[in-house]
Formats: sequence, structure tokens, C-alpha cells
Amino acid sequence: MAVKLSDVLKDKQATTGVAPGISEYETNLTEARSGDLEVKRSESRRIAELYYDLVTDFYEFGWGRSFHFAPRVPGESFKASLARHEHFMAHSLDLRAGMVVADIGCGVGGPLIEIARFTGAKIVGINTNGYQIERARTLTEEAGLDHLAEFLQCDFADIDAPDNTFDAVYDIEATCHAPDKAAVYGEVFRVLKPGACFGAFEYCMTERFDPNNAEHLRIKADIEWGGGLVDIDDYETVDEALRTVGFEVLETRNLINQPGPQIPWYEPLTGSGVSFASFRSSRFGRAMTTNTLRLLETLRIVPRGSVDVSQKLNTCAAAMAEAGRLGIFTPMYFLHARKPS
Ligand SMILES: C[S@@+](CC[C@H](N)C(=O)[O-])C[C@H]1O[C@@H](n2cnc3c(N)ncnc32)[C@H](O)[C@@H]1O
Repeated sequence: MAVKLSDVLKDKQATTGVAPGISEYETNLTEARSGDLEVKRSESRRIAELYYDLVTDFYEFGWGRSFHFAPRVPGESFKASLARHEHFMAHSLDLRAGMVVADIGCGVGGPLIEIARFTGAKIVGINTNGYQIERARTLTEEAGLDHLAEFLQCDFADIDAPDNTFDAVYDIEATCHAPDKAAVYGEVFRVLKPGACFGAFEYCMTERFDPNNAEHLRIKADIEWGGGLVDIDDYETVDEALRTVGFEVLETRNLINQPGPQIPWYEPLTGSGVSFASFRSSRFGRAMTTNTLRLLETLRIVPRGSVDVSQKLNTCAAAMAEAGRLGIFTPMYFLHARKPS
């Protein structure tokens, strides 16, 4: 299993290893976390770039091509739940053929491919990470969808497009990397056409998070530290940022709170791993990957630092599962807002 991961990793940074990247990531994140908003803002882009240089292959190996969580019901496969979550976004924004839509923080293009195929809309994937854009281009071509996809390598807080360009903009678990939500939402507002909508699945600490509870603070810090995040906002901060930049807020709600039987969103991180799809992300699957990587790193088959990256992701995954059980964190605070006409 991890041998397949080693095939990917050995092609990457094979000579230097990933260790220098980890050390720069840790230094920048430490500085940003203790700095003021200006420092957080200026460091966050570099932190996310370093983070995704380190973890993209692990994500693709352990999770798939859509780097997000999803609500899931009994009897629904993990893959189907990810697609349904993406369709929910497409449906909420009423995406259709003929529209030009931006996907900010597009990862390796998993959601972009699904949404382009589902709606026929043309989607512009925006991402700072060159490695992910290259991967997204390849996957889009393989899917036969290059006529509906374009990519822009730029910061979502400084989008390389004129005012009033897009018929819609969506964000799937990407602006969690931005410590200043108003800066990003303001840029989204600028590039949207008047009357057009923005949708997002935002990371948030919920109303159950207690900033005076040491255990809650430890869990939040573990998610941030292992997730390339400078700070996770709460509902009020996010809602306020939307309004500040001029959006008309149509809806904001935590999609975890759905009626009917549900499989918890964090289950793939804790589950027994009975299906092959969930095995790699489960606690046991992750431990097995780390142990195999340890051996491969000793044998110099994978780059130096691979085990460290794997362990960071494990810490983040364990903390997310704890936060999920306590109900103090959500990866799917849904935002739906319109730029006034
Ligand atoms: C958790 S991944 C989600 C990817 C994708 N939306 C998906 O669901 O598969 C976060 C993404 O945000 C991108 N990102 C982070 N900071 C960014 C920034 N300042 N500008 C543009 N993209 C950014 C990362 O490179 C990564 O692709």
C-alpha cells in the first residue's frame, strides 16, 4: 500500500528530501501564530504553499482527489458523499452551461472536474500551489474536460482577473487558510459580476467551542498545526466579514446539523477501515502508512522527512476527530451570499 505512495514521493524532492520544507513550515507558522493580523496575513500564503508541497501526495493517496469532508448518510459510499457535497454547492449557486465560475483554492481539481461535468459550466481553478495546478491540469485532461477548465496561479486574496468577471465563485474548504476573511471575501466580491453569488464550505469553531477550556484550545491548535492553518475563525467573524465587504448574506448554516440518520463527517478519520476506500484514512491505515514509510525512509526509498509529514497529518486527523466528537469544530459552515446588482 505505502509502496504506491513511495513511488510518488521518490520522484519528488528526491535529493534534498522534504525535511527543509518542514522546518521552514514550522518556523513560519510559529511566527504567524504569535504575530498580529498583518503578520498572519503576510505569512499565511507561504505557509499554505509549503504545506501543500509537503502533503498533496499524502492527501491524494489517503483521501482521493477531492480534499474535503462531506455529510454522509447510512448506505452512501464515501466517494458518493463527496460528489453529493459538490453537487450541493453547484445546485445552491445554480451553476449552468455558459457560466464562467471561479473555484478558489482548487486543490488538484477533484471538485472542479465533478462540478464542470455535472453543470457544463466553465470553471477557473485558482490556486497558489504550482504543483497542485500541474496535477489539476493533468487530471482535467485525463477526464476529457480541458475545454471547461482553466487555471490561474495566484492568491485568492489577489485574484489575477478584472472586476466583475465571474458568474459565480465557490470555495470548498480553502479560505480556512486565510486569517483575514474580509481580505479574501472582498476580492471575491470584486471579481463577481453584480447580482452573482458566492458559496463556501468554511472551517469554523462552533458555538460549543470554549476559548477558556484548555482541552478545546489544545485540539484547535493541533488542527491548525497539522493543517497549515494560522487561525480558525468562529461563525460571527465569518458572517461579519461577508457583510463588511458588501455581500447580501442569503444563508449561513452548519451543514452538520441535518435531519435524519447521519454518518459523522469525521468517521473516515476514525473508522475501522473496513472498506478499501476508508482504510487509508482510518486510524489503523494511517499508523500502517507511517510505519511502512519509516522503513522506506531508512532504506532511502522515500525522501527524508516523509515520516514527519505523515505524523503531522495524523495529529491533525486525530484532533479533527476529537473536535468532531465534541462538536466544537465544523468543516462545513455553508455560506451563500450575493453581490448586490
Ligand atoms: C483543503 S484544500 C481544498 C482543495 C479543494 N477545494 C478541494 O476541495 O479539493 C485547500 C486549497 O486551498 C489552496 N490555497 C491555500 N491558500 C491559498 C491562497 N492564498 N490562494 C489560493 N489558494 C490557496 C491550497 O493550495 C489548496 O489547494
